[in-house]
Amino acid sequence: MATKFIKNGAKVVITDILHQLGQDAAVELRPNATFVSCDVTRESDISDAVDFTVSKHGRLDIMYNNGIVGNSPPRIVDLDMTEFDRIMSINVQGVVVGIKHAARFMMPRHSGCILCTGSVTVLMGGLSPPEYSISKGASLGSSNQLWPRCESMAFRLIASRRSPFRPRL
Ligand SMILES: NC(=O)c1ccc[n+]([C@@H]2O[C@H](COP(=O)([O-])OP(=O)(O)OC[C@H]3O[C@@H](n4cnc5c(N)ncnc54)[C@H](O)[C@@H]3O)[C@@H](O)[C@H]2O)c1
Repeated sequence: MATKFIKNGAKVVITDILHQLGQDAAVELRPNATFVSCDVTRESDISDAVDFTVSKHGRLDIMYNNGIVGNSPPRIVDLDMTEFDRIMSINVQGVVVGIKHAARFMMPRHSGCILCTGSVTVLMGGLSPPEYSISKGASLGSSNQLWPRCESMAFRLIASRRSPFRPRL
């Protein structure tokens, strides 16, 4: 995705918990990409990454909430609720906090685009581990609930639905 954004003229700040992989990707995409280590379960990491972007580039045009985790318990009765909370804090809280901190800069400028990757598993049961599908549904719901609260309606919040299936042409 970073490559696509850069091809379209963007300067990209890549964030991830995988420090070395992120650094390597930024070096590969030099000089149009920078890497900032960010654990989306920590609000301060997201806030710092947004502040870094604005201080480096003078603006934040697009926030792309894309990172996820999933897990696969063999049976519903084996669902580990500590693991469930961890997945929700990455896949849902991470998205909500991402929207919150992007909005800090986008709302005053009356401009910006927030992308949140969804999943077809929200629409069809049994495709993915339940906690992953539940978290993607909550993340889509969060996007739907938050955009009317972005008082300046001039920025777009898009929740895309990504599918592992090829569309039938
Ligand atoms: N791969 C598919 O077939 C598919 C299908 C439907 C939807 N999607 C959606 O597309 C998006 C990307 O999926 P993918 O398969 O490319 O994912 P991926 O596993 O390749 O990448 C997810 C990234 O999130 C990072 N991450 C994990 N925990 C983090 C944390 N706490 N803080 C910051 N970063 C963290 C990981 O290190 C990893 O680099 C996701 O939102 C996913 O739900 C994917």
